[in-house]
Amino acid sequence: MAASAASFGVVYLFVVVISMLGSSTYADLSKNFYSKSCPKVFTAVESVVKSAVSKEHRMGASLVRLFFHDCFVKGCDGSLLLDDTASFTGEKTAGPNNNSVRGFEVVDAIKARVEKVCPGVVSCADILAIAARDSVVILGGPDWDVKLGRRDSKTASFSAANSGVIPPPTATLSQLINRFNARGLSAKDMVALSGAHTIGKARCVLFRNRIYNETNIDGSFAKTRQRSCPRTSGSGDNNLAPLDVKTRNSFDLKYFKNLLNKKGLLHSDQILFNGGSTDSLVKTYSSNVKTFYSDFVTAMIKMGNITPLTGSKGEIRKNCRRPN
Ligand code: HEM
Ligand SMILES: *[C@@H]1O[C@H](CO)[C@@H](O)[C@H](O)[C@H]1NC(C)=O
Ligand SMILES: *[C@@H]1O[C@H](CO)[C@@H](O)[C@H](O)[C@H]1NC(C)=O
Repeated sequence: MAASAASFGVVYLFVVVISMLGSSTYADLSKNFYSKSCPKVFTAVESVVKSAVSKEHRMGASLVRLFFHDCFVKGCDGSLLLDDTASFTGEKTAGPNNNSVRGFEVVDAIKARVEKVCPGVVSCADILAIAARDSVVILGGPDWDVKLGRRDSKTASFSAANSGVIPPPTATLSQLINRFNARGLSAKDMVALSGAHTIGKARCVLFRNRIYNETNIDGSFAKTRQRSCPRTSGSGDNNLAPLDVKTRNSFDLKYFKNLLNKKGLLHSDQILFNGGSTDSLVKTYSSNVKTFYSDFVTAMIKMGNITPLTGSKGEIRKNCRRPN
């Protein structure tokens, strides 16, 4: 009896271990991944991010967004960073990214600095994860341990980036929830992550319809935005406005306060507080910065776990723009 119970225990343990190995690749990510191979990675990344953000505060926002757009397309594998090659068209010119995502030069500078201290060790995908965290911290937001060990893809996919996995700013609430669910993220994760719109800017072409046509918008806020975003399509399309009306360079909870006051810039912002299922979360975050920060951190770690390449998959790129 005792012997068979013990052997059952061993077999059971074996099955559990095997199924863990098989099912969740992200279990391989860990905060200590580079502690032997590149202990200086954190100071190397941080120093470049710090100088870039002090030159231009918006760069912190741009780096956070790069991580999002990388992870939602084929997983957090650095695919967004690849330039077009003879064999594939990359993600940079896909709808959600073209004339929109930025910060690639800063990523190059980070990679160059990291290659100096430990050549060939740190992936571009991990650099994006660390740079996003550092940006949030530098702009006054929460700090957390970044999980590491992602490897870089050898290809990128224009069509995957265009397939709608990254929701457009015209999305309805249920579309937003569905697209995050499709990436293993909950509605709560989606609302917390949207709090990243407490920093950075958007182009007129993406909020024009909202400031001229929508009714769930504060009148004087709409007028102010209209001054730098002409009604006529094609004129001033690239004019910028802050996503957070007053504290654009500070990672605070004002974004959610704006939503309570109908001052969300994008349709997809205001839809989070428009009588639907996410209203109560927006209310909570608008008055409780600790809850916002802790849900944001949880969601960033979850987002960073989207199907990474680990083990011997992919490669460690030498240059983030090109496969080796
Ligand atoms: C919920 C769905 C989301 C939609 C529909 C959305 C949409 C947008 C749009 C349209 C812009 C402006 C782009 C432009 O003007 O070219 C933007 C900017 C930005 N987004 Fe989102 N976003 C979403 C979620 C997120 C998430 C999850 C993050 C990160 C955690 C994020 C971070 C940012 C940041 C930081 C900016 C400003 C970038 C800069 O100034 O360079 N967004 N987003
Ligand atoms: C990207 O934007 C450029 C400049 O506006 C434009 O010429 C090009 O056609 C766009 N690319 C795609 C694939 O839409
Ligand atoms: C307002 O909505 C109408 C009808 O959908 C549309 O034709 C028009 O282009 C919109 N105006 C702006 C400024 O987006």
